[in-house]
Amino acid sequence: MLALIDGARISVLSTRGARLDTTDLVLRQQEYYDGRAEDWQRWITRYMRPVEGEVSKLLAELPLDGHVLDMACGTGYWTRQLADRATSVTALDGSAAMLEQVAQAGLPNVSVVHADLFSWNPPTEWDAVFFAHWLAHVPDDRFDRFWGTVDGALAPSGHVVIVDVAPEEQRIEEHIHERESVPLTRRRLRDGRQYDVVKKYWEPEELIERIQPLGFTGSGTKIGAGDGFGFVVWNVFRSSDDQS
Ligand SMILES: C[S@@+](CC[C@H](N)C(=O)[O-])C[C@H]1O[C@@H](n2cnc3c(N)ncnc32)[C@H](O)[C@@H]1O
Repeated sequence: MLALIDGARISVLSTRGARLDTTDLVLRQQEYYDGRAEDWQRWITRYMRPVEGEVSKLLAELPLDGHVLDMACGTGYWTRQLADRATSVTALDGSAAMLEQVAQAGLPNVSVVHADLFSWNPPTEWDAVFFAHWLAHVPDDRFDRFWGTVDGALAPSGHVVIVDVAPEEQRIEEHIHERESVPLTRRRLRDGRQYDVVKKYWEPEELIERIQPLGFTGSGTKIGAGDGFGFVVWNVFRSSDDQS
């Protein structure tokens, strides 16, 4: 299944009063990841290695069965793990080069979707929505709409499972800065092209507070924090499903 929809132009009034249009930023960060497709699988595997046991243990306890959507799946590092236990996995990404590697793995219960998450309309619902190393790249002006997309993709009583870097990781970033209140970090491709990608670090509880007005709740667990490193795994669900 292939579908690519162009992102809509969205502006935001920054705290300093200037209007920052994030259209170019999100297009550029997609271009950056296109350029990383060739080495991404090797890179993410090495990056996650120190905590892979801990992360797997946490994920094993979370409801990631049934039909699962892996948003911004990249080369399918997580898709492969999800496919081991799910009935089906839909692996969605904005980079055709990344998706090619997911398709090449030939997993029988995995299908790929090529789409821009900032304009994609979910055509169906999944039992679980998963995304790893993606949320940090969602600028604040697109955050609510993105969570609307998550809501539209999630079946009743479904769970959203998120893996992302913890704020501790900022210490190893090359160049963290802000443009009109949008947090950015600098990345370079091997050919020398330079990109500023959106990088918003979330503390576990900070994210839960941010998504509560959007109808979601849950909790996050920090792992491997220290030495300029650290990840958070969140288990999120609709507030209306809260049994506590
Ligand atoms: C940091 S990588 C994470 C990949 C994968 N989840 C992982 O952990 O290995 C971010 C991914 O987001 C994808 N991406 C960037 N902008 C996107 C967009 N607007 N819509 C869909 N995917 C996008 C990139 O192609 C890339 O695969």
